[in-house]
Amino acid sequence: MRRTRTQVGIVGAGPAGLVLGHLLAREGIDAVILEAKSRAYVEQRQRAGVLEHDVVRLLRDVGLGKRLDAIGMIHDGIHLQFAGERHRLDFRALCGRSVTVYAQTDIVKDVVADRLVRALPLELEVEDVALHDVASAAPHISYRSADGEACELACDVIAGCDGFHGPSRAQIPSALQKTWERAYPYAWLGILADVAPSTDELIYAHHPDGFALHSMRSPRVSRLYLQVAEDESLDAWPDARVWDALDTRFALPGWRLERGPVREKGITAMRSFVSAPMRYGRLFLAGDAAHIVPPTGAKGLNLAIADVVLLAQALVALLRNGDESLVDRYSETCLSRVWACTQFSTWMTSMLHTAPGKDGFGAELQLAQLRQVVSSKAAATALAERYTGIPLPRV
Ligand code: FAD
Ligand code: PHB
Repeated sequence: MRRTRTQVGIVGAGPAGLVLGHLLAREGIDAVILEAKSRAYVEQRQRAGVLEHDVVRLLRDVGLGKRLDAIGMIHDGIHLQFAGERHRLDFRALCGRSVTVYAQTDIVKDVVADRLVRALPLELEVEDVALHDVASAAPHISYRSADGEACELACDVIAGCDGFHGPSRAQIPSALQKTWERAYPYAWLGILADVAPSTDELIYAHHPDGFALHSMRSPRVSRLYLQVAEDESLDAWPDARVWDALDTRFALPGWRLERGPVREKGITAMRSFVSAPMRYGRLFLAGDAAHIVPPTGAKGLNLAIADVVLLAQALVALLRNGDESLVDRYSETCLSRVWACTQFSTWMTSMLHTAPGKDGFGAELQLAQLRQVVSSKAAATALAERYTGIPLPRV
């Protein structure tokens, strides 16, 4: 049995765990990150792509801005398409803020590379991770290392950054835990294609056949999504059918969707989930371990980073000065942003997706809502403020 100790044991090397480890290291707090998957896996897993205004500022402020500034694409707005018309929302004019298209995989690559250069502990491909005594002053994590050794990591606190399916959340006794969940009767089929984006900024399209989104990863790689049935099989969607459906849903006179080789194709379920509290004793949950939002608002990754900014500040106060005031408020502070983003993501989802079955009344309400967003400065500003993100504290 290999026994080690650290101040913060972090379960999960997704954006939440990695950025938390990075923020703590800057403050001289030791952390060990334990991750079940390989480096190649966490660096390639296709997920989110849009960073809020303050998340970009934060990443720059903490020394993670080099590649972000070199290859991130600043977008001052989005296009909303419905009823055969495309309208631009100018975020910069509406609220003075922008977003940056920079893939989650790139943030993961940046933090992993930095961690390895500085020889900070990151144990990949670990198995059988289990959390123990999290309500006590001496929690620990047991696991099996990549080479099969049984290990025990004693910690001052544990950060559960292990995503929706990780073991951390289940440590909170069910009598103390409250959860809220909403499943949607549709899913997203996403493709990554080796073709230059056919648009300068993201297009969110409402269409009677279903929602479509044109996003991007670089000037040469497009990321596109289609609303499909919740139980849809990828086999039913050969590439040509995907492009044909995208053509239909984005159709606009004088505009063309360029096609290219499809490098990846996948289906993502749509759900909302919130679990409270986000703290139990010496265990703190962050990111998808505590909450999931449907991707229409581009909030999942941004929320995960907002959680760990607050968590890092709270843990520094606790571990450096024994000050418990911030850890005591951690859950409540995070959940207020979580519910704001859940509200926004639910609103965007219900405004843009086609409900299964014929709901002509619902469709007319969506169009009325969309018309209001593109014609009322107040409504457009409300969307712009939420999309570009609630301000984050400075680190
Ligand atoms: P994760 O990224 O899930 O990281 C958790 C980590 O913990 C993983 O690396 C996992 O391997 C590890 N882990 C789990 N269990 C264990 C264990 N027992 N031991 C050790 N490690 C463990 N958001 C958007 O805004 N736009 C999108 O298009 C979008 N697409 C998505 C597609 C999918 C398929 C999914 C699942 C999510 C998507 N999201 C999207 C949401 C966004 O990617 C997440 O909100 C974000 O990844 C949250 O980061 P996280 O670090 O909290 O969790
Ligand atoms: C993406 O680029 O993957 C993306 C962008 C915006 C969203 C969701 C996903 O709302």
